[in-house]
Amino acid sequence: MAHERAKDGLAPRLTRRQFAAAASALLFADWVAGAEDASKSPPIGPRVGPLRARDVLNVRDFEPLARAALPPAHFGYLATGIDDDLTVRRNEQAFGDYEIRARRFVDLSHTNTGITLFGAHWRSPVYLSAVSSMRAFHPEGEAAVARAAATRSAQMMVSTGSSVSLEQMVKLRSAPVWQQLYPTDDWAITQALVQRAEAAGANAIVLTVDSTATAGARNSETLRRAAQTDSRHCPACHVGNRHDMWLRAPLFSGLDVTRVRGLAPPALTLEWLDRLRHIVRGKLFVKGVVTGEDAQAAVAHGADAVIVSNHGGRNEETLRATIDCVPEVVQAVKGRVPVLMDGGVRRGTDVYKAIALGASAVGIGRPQGWGLAAFGQEGVEAVLDIYARELEAIMRQAGTPSIGAIGARAVLHRDRA
Ligand code: GLV
Repeated sequence: MAHERAKDGLAPRLTRRQFAAAASALLFADWVAGAEDASKSPPIGPRVGPLRARDVLNVRDFEPLARAALPPAHFGYLATGIDDDLTVRRNEQAFGDYEIRARRFVDLSHTNTGITLFGAHWRSPVYLSAVSSMRAFHPEGEAAVARAAATRSAQMMVSTGSSVSLEQMVKLRSAPVWQQLYPTDDWAITQALVQRAEAAGANAIVLTVDSTATAGARNSETLRRAAQTDSRHCPACHVGNRHDMWLRAPLFSGLDVTRVRGLAPPALTLEWLDRLRHIVRGKLFVKGVVTGEDAQAAVAHGADAVIVSNHGGRNEETLRATIDCVPEVVQAVKGRVPVLMDGGVRRGTDVYKAIALGASAVGIGRPQGWGLAAFGQEGVEAVLDIYARELEAIMRQAGTPSIGAIGARAVLHRDRA
C-alpha cells in the first residue's frame, strides 16, 4: 500500500511532513477567516510557522488535514461507509442525543482516568482499534501507531490487514497487543493465523463477526468515487494490483492462500465459533455485535469480551449507531464479561457517555488514520492526548473524578428520559 509521493501528483520535492504542514496552514487560515466573518471578532494575528500536531484543537480537525495529505483513493478508503455513508454519520451524531447530568458537591482534588481491564492497568479507557493497511496513510504505517501507543501506554488492536508485521508491532509497543482476526474461509488459514498471532505475543484474538460478505461485495461508494478521481496507477504501489488482504498483509506471509476466497467463512455460525474457541489458547473477543441476542450467544460460546461495533459503518447501512446498541448489549451480557465499543467516538464526552452506558473501554478507528496521515507518530499521539484531556475535563466538570464514579445516571437520552 505504500505509495511514492512523486506519483501522487503532489509536488515531488516536498516531504510528506512539509506538504501536510503547508496544507494545514492553508486550512487553518480559512477557518480563521470564516470565524472572523461569522463573529466580526477582532482580527487574529498572523500565525508563525507551520501547524504542528499539538496545535490541532480537536480530533475532528485532523480529518481535513489527512484529506489534504493523502491521495484521493487512500483518503476514500479511510472515509468510506456504505451506500450513502449514513451509518458512519449516525455513529457520530447519536452521541449528541445523550446529555450528561453534571453533579456538584464532589471532592475533585484528584481525577483519575485509569482503569483495570483483563488484569492490566490502563491510563485511559481509550484503545486503538484495528485499522487496516496503514501504510496507505503514511510511509511508516502501523509502526508509527505502535510507537505512539507505546509513548501513551495505549492498548492496541492490530488489524489482520496490518501492513507492518505483528512481531515488529509487539516489539515497538513493548507490551502485548490484541490481534484482530479475519479468519478467511479456509480453516487451515484460520488456524495458522491464530497460532502465528499467539506465538508473536498477541494476548487476545479479536474475531470480527460483521464482515461476512465476500471480497468486493460491500457497496463502498465513497471509496469507489474517490478512486475514480485518483489518476495514479495502482499497480505501481500495489504489487500486481493486489488489493486482497490475504495477498499482501504480512500476517499471511508464507501461508498457502490459494483456497482463500473471502475474509470470513460463509457460515460463521455458533458451531464455527465453538471450533475457533477450541483453538484459541488466550482470550477470545467477539467484535461487531450490535444486538443483545448475539452478545448473549457470544458469551455463552466462550467470548471473553464483546465489542459493540458496526465496523465504523463500513459494512451495512443499518442507520443504527453503536452508542445506541451499547445499553441492550450491556443488559444482555449481565456483567459476565466486559463490553467494549467503537464507532463515531470523536470527543472525550463521547468516551464518557459510552462508559456511563456500561462500556468498559472505547476504541477509536479513523482518527488514528487522520492523525497518522497528517503528522505521523506525533499525530496519533496528539489524537490520544486530546481524548485524554477532554475526558479528564468532563469527568471533573460532571463531578465524577474516577471512571468507576461514572454510573448509569451520569447520562440521559434526551428522548427517553
Ligand atoms: C477493513 O477492515 C476495512 O474495513 O476495510
